[in-house]
Amino acid sequence: MRLDQFIAHCTPLSRKEAKRAIARGRVTIRGLPCRDAGEKITEDCPVCLDGQGLHRPEERYFMLNKPAGVVSATTDADHPTALDLLPPELIRDLHIAGRLDLDTTGLLLLTTDGQWSHRITSPRTDCPKVYQVTLDSPLSDEAERQLTRGVQLKSEDRMTRPADVRRLGNRIIELTISEGRYHQVKRMLAAVSNHVQALHRIQVGNIRLDPDLKPGEFRPLTPEEVASVG
Ligand code: URA
Repeated sequence: MRLDQFIAHCTPLSRKEAKRAIARGRVTIRGLPCRDAGEKITEDCPVCLDGQGLHRPEERYFMLNKPAGVVSATTDADHPTALDLLPPELIRDLHIAGRLDLDTTGLLLLTTDGQWSHRITSPRTDCPKVYQVTLDSPLSDEAERQLTRGVQLKSEDRMTRPADVRRLGNRIIELTISEGRYHQVKRMLAAVSNHVQALHRIQVGNIRLDPDLKPGEFRPLTPEEVASVG
């Protein structure tokens, strides 16, 4: 991490203010003044601002039951964002680990930990995401077979990875996918000539949406939930 980034991470200073503090010689690394905002900081590097040792704040992890009409983004000109649903003192440096569409509801994970969220979103890690999908019409046996084998999405060169399908009702299925392509579930159902009426995420990896959370409510993840993303 760059020195200015590290200072902005550990103190209330913005990145710009951190750069200014560095330029003014207020920052030392291993006891020596450093005026290079781009200096790389490692885990165990002792950094001081005005003689005070700086320490990385603890990473934070939350689950939110996202309501429809809330954007999975940190800022938006037209709609409330997921961050608007958390108190201001908790949102610093949070980002979203795997977005949901504006009209999709359910499990949204927010964290300050970039490596952790990468393990959720990276196509390489195969992290399963489980959706409850309400369809326009009942899923045919042939459509189910196609989804479980993989389907060809419009304007994509690769088939989707095999998905798991569980029938929960006449027009409701549980679909488990391990990718996160753009509008993936809606496009998969369109590819088998159906249409998604409502989409609700209930699980990411081993983390299940807490049934006690009403739409718009959030809670910190437990240490076990955090550690389950490996
Ligand atoms: N797939 C979609 O189509 N939309 C979502 O919000 C999530 C997965």
